[in-house]
Amino acid sequence: MSNQKYKIAVIPGDGTGPEVINEGLKVLDAAASKFGFSYDKVNYDIGGQRYLDTGEILPETVVKELGGFDSIYLGAIGDPRVKPGVLEKGILLRLRFELDQYINLRPIVLYDRRFCPLKDKTEEQIDFVVVRENTEGLYCGAGGFLRKDTEDEVAIQESINSYKGVERCIRFAFEYARKRNKNKRLTLCGKTNVLTFAFDLWERTFNKLSKEYPDVETDYAHVDATCMWMVKSPEWFDVIVTDNMFGDIITDLGAIVQGGMGIAAGGNINPQGVSMFEPIGGSAPKYTGKNVINPLAAICAASMMLDTLGEDKAAQAIDLSVRKIVKEKLESLAAGRMGYSTTEVGDLVVANL
Ligand code: IPM
Ligand code: MN
Repeated sequence: MSNQKYKIAVIPGDGTGPEVINEGLKVLDAAASKFGFSYDKVNYDIGGQRYLDTGEILPETVVKELGGFDSIYLGAIGDPRVKPGVLEKGILLRLRFELDQYINLRPIVLYDRRFCPLKDKTEEQIDFVVVRENTEGLYCGAGGFLRKDTEDEVAIQESINSYKGVERCIRFAFEYARKRNKNKRLTLCGKTNVLTFAFDLWERTFNKLSKEYPDVETDYAHVDATCMWMVKSPEWFDVIVTDNMFGDIITDLGAIVQGGMGIAAGGNINPQGVSMFEPIGGSAPKYTGKNVINPLAAICAASMMLDTLGEDKAAQAIDLSVRKIVKEKLESLAAGRMGYSTTEVGDLVVANL
């Protein structure tokens, strides 16, 4: 029994976000009473609706307040009525940057081989983690237009890679590979043959840090080859570290390999500060309000949150319950085809906790 009390900020967000967050909170409540911790939650209604109603995207005061919580639990950001980029950059990316959540941690774990799109792959073979840099690279918004809307237009979008940013990300990945204690193998995913400045810095830093972690085997793969190996031989991977853009792309591939967006969770981690946990699938607007969306990604995100808070027993129990119901109950991980509704899936996880 931990008897700890946590302060958790909840941002249900857009589309199906509120529905999956409800199930996640249901599971958190059950885990709290079973494992003896408790939490206060404060709800924040930021997202597409608030923007359309008031013009506010993410007030400065909210950013300040969020910095005072133990953790943030996020549903989804994205509304088809709002121009692409406004909410994503204005809320999700801004929070990642301002709270300096410099790691995006995305486990790729197959819970049941029936749901893997790859032929003949087993649960043992798909079990790795991507450590994605989360505050730099192409996501900084550096660049601009010259002579916009003319035939002489030039658009520039630059990738920012600082030594400090790269170092802390790679160091986290080495530590993570050591702690995970599986194959103790860390793969740097880059593009050293073309991006000869950015990934030169990554590679030099990777090689330098590897000397501090002689127990961790190192490996390198270009991002294109990484995509190929993730499909052909996912069992090779243990921990992959990469930059923001490549991490974004390969974790969607990872999500489908592990059974789809219905089960893929991630954590935006500031190891010294406030972290934020989310299902990585987005707001899935067409399923909103239908009670058909898969809440397991949000539930797995809650488990990651508990693990980060130090409630590892509760985190593990949620994970085991999810594994069990995926194997024994669900017909599919896709929205509308699970054989159960959103709320029923939440109830099943609680019942098996
Ligand atoms: C993700 C998403 C975001 C990203 C978008 C919504 C800005 O795709 O969390 O992977 O690109 O990081
Ligand atoms: Mn993405």
